Amino acid sequence: METKIISVSEANLDPLGAAAQLLKNGGLVAFPTETVYGLGAVYNNPSSILQIFAVKGRPADNPLIVHIWRLEQLQELTDEVSAKAIRLIESFWPGPLTLIFRKKQIVSPVVSAGLDSIAVRMPAHPVAAKLLQLTGIPVAAPSANLSGRPSPTRGSHVILDLAGKIDLIIDAGPASNGIESTVLSTIHEPCVILRPGSVTKEMIEDVLHETVDISGNQTEDRPVAPGMKYRHYAPEAPLFLVEGDNGKVVSEINRLLAISPDRKAVVIGSTENIGRYHNEWVLDYGPRRAPEIIAARLYEILRFCDQLPIEIIYVEGVDTGGVGLAVVNRIRKAAGGNIIHVS
Ligand code: TXA
Ligand code: MG
Repeated sequence: METKIISVSEANLDPLGAAAQLLKNGGLVAFPTETVYGLGAVYNNPSSILQIFAVKGRPADNPLIVHIWRLEQLQELTDEVSAKAIRLIESFWPGPLTLIFRKKQIVSPVVSAGLDSIAVRMPAHPVAAKLLQLTGIPVAAPSANLSGRPSPTRGSHVILDLAGKIDLIIDAGPASNGIESTVLSTIHEPCVILRPGSVTKEMIEDVLHETVDISGNQTEDRPVAPGMKYRHYAPEAPLFLVEGDNGKVVSEINRLLAISPDRKAVVIGSTENIGRYHNEWVLDYGPRRAPEIIAARLYEILRFCDQLPIEIIYVEGVDTGGVGLAVVNRIRKAAGGNIIHVS
């Protein structure tokens, strides 16, 4: 299949008319959002939705997020919007917060992977908002990467993963946040963060005036986002995350580099520490004190590793405050079980 690629900017949204038409006809369109690029299809066309799963190689038990551009569209998807959900919507929509609601019967179980709940988000990116407005139908969209790969933060990442497999890729430059939205269940009491993101636990608690839970691993008896159980966000080479006391992390990575000098490695670490690693390849993920910057760069750096002649990746741990929690969550997933703790 030939994939059309178009560049769109906020100043020229004209090409979006044709993109919306493609979606309405059942096509698959990759589009930018402020978090990561999404791979969209109208939510009410089950065969297009199935096509999304096929193209990504996505496990069938992993539900999709439905994207809307105005609040009225929420009524198509759910008729249970709690007072708490309304407060969160008022504070964070449009933006990088996905809310889980009870699903209306008419919404196809293909979208929700058989669950009786539905994930909904109103993206803030002007290109996404305009595309959704012109389409007029809510758009189901997972991140526009092959399953297991880092989410795309640039049009070029989508082209690498999906060109030849979908109808259209809309390139609008780098995504500003760089990691996927926070996923929050409003149908649990208290609310539960199923996937941390740039709307942080602290920000949500400030609005709700109560403590919210954070979902642990799928092994615990707590609700989870089905997608979080898979190894994810991963570059090709094995990735080792080294966490713990900052100074000791640097020494531990240097020790690991020294014990297998023939194994070509890359180190990914903070601006403050990159000068302290003894290795040919050292990549700077940003300052320790600015996890938003690390979030914005992370996936691009992980994808860049695939272009390096290396066999192993060592990543310096990040502090978990604020958006740091989401960053650590993604790096841990990319590491699979390869987490080394030094103290
Ligand atoms: O920022 C984002 O959220 C991006 C952009 C494109 O909007 N989308 C995205 O979608 O990251 P995806 O499919 O890669 O991740 C959706 C996550 C998965 O972990 C999935 O299991 C979870 O949300 N999810 C979706 N529907 C759910 C539901 N009904 N209950 C619990 N978790 C759900
Ligand atoms: Mg994804």
